[in-house]
Amino acid sequence: SKGEYRHFMLKEIHEQPAVIAAALEGRLGDSAVLVESFGPEARALFERVQQIHIVACGTSYHAGLVARYWLERYAGVPVQVEVASEYRYRQVVVPEGTLFVTLSQSGETADTLAALRFAREKGYLASLAICNVPGSSLVRESDLTLMTQAGPEIGVASTKAFTTQLAALMLLTLALGRSHGLDEAIQSELVNALRGLPRLVERVLALDEGIEALSTGFAEKHHALFLGRGAHFPIALEGALKLKEISYIHAEAYPAGELKHGPLALVDSEMPVIAVAPNDELLDKLKSNLQEVRARGGELYVFADEQVSLAEEPGIRVLHLPHVHEALAPLLYTLPLQLLSYHVAVLKGTDVDQPRNLAKSVTVE
Ligand code: M6R
Repeated sequence: SKGEYRHFMLKEIHEQPAVIAAALEGRLGDSAVLVESFGPEARALFERVQQIHIVACGTSYHAGLVARYWLERYAGVPVQVEVASEYRYRQVVVPEGTLFVTLSQSGETADTLAALRFAREKGYLASLAICNVPGSSLVRESDLTLMTQAGPEIGVASTKAFTTQLAALMLLTLALGRSHGLDEAIQSELVNALRGLPRLVERVLALDEGIEALSTGFAEKHHALFLGRGAHFPIALEGALKLKEISYIHAEAYPAGELKHGPLALVDSEMPVIAVAPNDELLDKLKSNLQEVRARGGELYVFADEQVSLAEEPGIRVLHLPHVHEALAPLLYTLPLQLLSYHVAVLKGTDVDQPRNLAKSVTVE
């Protein structure tokens, strides 16, 4: 039941501190990830991994895109990420030592399942499913599995399934990192940061009133643009998908550096622009992109680290998030975007948990 909450989506957003903790439970040692969490054969298999192909749909695909940044940076393993409906009809070239990874909340998404079956003929090292539903087709048919432990997700818009997928993908990054030369000090730093994550998620959820206040700026708008850089570009994609899906506002996401290459032409006072701007090495670049938007009268909404001094001025609304380890920022910055879409949808009076034309689990092609 929804309990005290008005919608399942809101309830599921608020379950995130607990389910992220559940996704990490029993999988972290003192200073490293327990590789056996991925199954008894995982350790030997992971040592042989030379690259990774990740396949998924929708929100799960966005989790894969974030993981690419993590896996390449911390495990030094080349990664390709593709939507399942494209992957399954391509002549995929599979180099030796490639791990095939599927991501899915339901484990029943038709294209993702078909991609797994197709991959089986392609000579992959092994398949790994990161999935939320025990006993689902994807779980039954994969060599290795890691359950995301998010519990049942009822709202069509995926929320807790996404953040637990990200937690699981950070575990995969650290598990592969162990056999791929990841510095032990960095491993232990990331393990500690993961342990602190549920608390930080709680603190961000406590900012809900401020996020709700921002939502009024969207209810009358027809379009919105989400910007991010690096691992926050997929978070911008996810923010745009959430807004489209439940509020029916047309939203697009761009890596901030692409603005000048086309989308800037769309920016005027009718186009709110949402920027995900944690405090990482890309912040200065993002700041100059924001100026470009302001210069065209665009209304800006910036989600930034509390350590960033970004002044509110006419046309710029800033919401500060608690400081977080740079690697985990994509996970934390997802939350305000979920809440923002939720409040915009409530203002617009759409069916939040069951948006038009969509099904929770897409079991047909
Ligand atoms: O069950 P799956 O994770 O395989 O589902 C994939 C997509 O259908 C799903 O993430 C969809 O995009 C969500 N409704 C987005 O909120």
